[in-house]
Amino acid sequence: MTDHTLCQAELAGTGSYLPEKILTNFDLEKMLDTSDEWIRTRTGIQERRIASEKESSSVLAAHAARKALESANITADELDIIIVCTSTPDVLFPSTACFVQKEIGATRSAAFDISAVCSGFVYGLSIAEQYIKSGRYRHVLVIGSEVNSRIVDWTDRTTCILFGDGAGAVILKQKDSSEECGLLSSHIYSDGNLSSLIEVPKAIGRIPENGNSDKFFIKMSGNATFKVAVKRMTEVCQEALKYNGLSRDDVDLIVPHQANQRIIDAVVKRLEVSPEKVFLNIHKYGNTSAASIPIAIDEAKRTGRIKPGCRMLIMVVGAGLTWGAAVIKW
Ligand code: UT7
Repeated sequence: MTDHTLCQAELAGTGSYLPEKILTNFDLEKMLDTSDEWIRTRTGIQERRIASEKESSSVLAAHAARKALESANITADELDIIIVCTSTPDVLFPSTACFVQKEIGATRSAAFDISAVCSGFVYGLSIAEQYIKSGRYRHVLVIGSEVNSRIVDWTDRTTCILFGDGAGAVILKQKDSSEECGLLSSHIYSDGNLSSLIEVPKAIGRIPENGNSDKFFIKMSGNATFKVAVKRMTEVCQEALKYNGLSRDDVDLIVPHQANQRIIDAVVKRLEVSPEKVFLNIHKYGNTSAASIPIAIDEAKRTGRIKPGCRMLIMVVGAGLTWGAAVIKW
């Protein structure tokens, strides 16, 4: 194994929160020209969670954050930075992270949001990694939180069936150990030339060319996104393994972004990894965007899929286009 690090960045705590309300494929059948069979076979999704009127991204995020603090056995006062990864912020500004900071009472931390859509959590981890490994900070809270239900067009069957709401959080902690563990590496990429593949084209800071008719809904070229997602995620996973001197057999668990089970299956096949090593919860939650990976990590941890020494690969693709991967040793 190669040692690329100064300090170790341990994943000291995890937490997640899902709204109570469940919207099943059968419910969608009553709202749109779609079927449970189509959604299940094309995506793997059976149901998704929908936030209540009182639940914004900061509310979901604060629930997940409290659980992560509890599992890391630290107080909110010990946090140095709070990073919220979201495409559905409570308001344009202040940042959702500042609302979370207030809600959990993290009096001495810095707090900010980052925008990398579904890839947000891997981007957030990558930022946190730099602060921890450089020795600058001891505790960074990274949260992915989304209320996608507020930005989907509920009359568009090609997108609304895919998305759900939720939040997941992890605490990265500086570890005093020479043993190589924690977040080993993160790898993030973007290609702005592919920005129109998935977008919410509502103009805020730019004057729309077409008057004021931009949509406040997710628009997606599903098929084109599907193909580029498989290619980019396969490449970045291969890069992450190579960077750490690992072979596919060294990977114990893959926690992919839960966007479409067929995308995940295609990547796993290309990587030639056993499907049994893949953690899936897409059937329960659909695509929760930046929240998808931290929710899955928390569930994998709490259900015993992650054991000490487990080498985990996470991978993602999202609007931007953005994509990334990270390798974590527990
Ligand atoms: O979060 C990261 C970014 N997002 C993604 O990774 C999503 C990537 N893309 C996908 O997951 C898939 O492309 C979809 C699930 C969105 C669509 O699956 P597909 O196999 O690519 O279907 P398609 O778009 O090629 O559509 C096939 C047919 C079309 O009908 P025709 O033209 O063949 O008659 C669609 O109109 O399926 C139709 N269709 C539906 N039928 C029933 C599209 N959506 C639905 C629906 N129910 N909900």
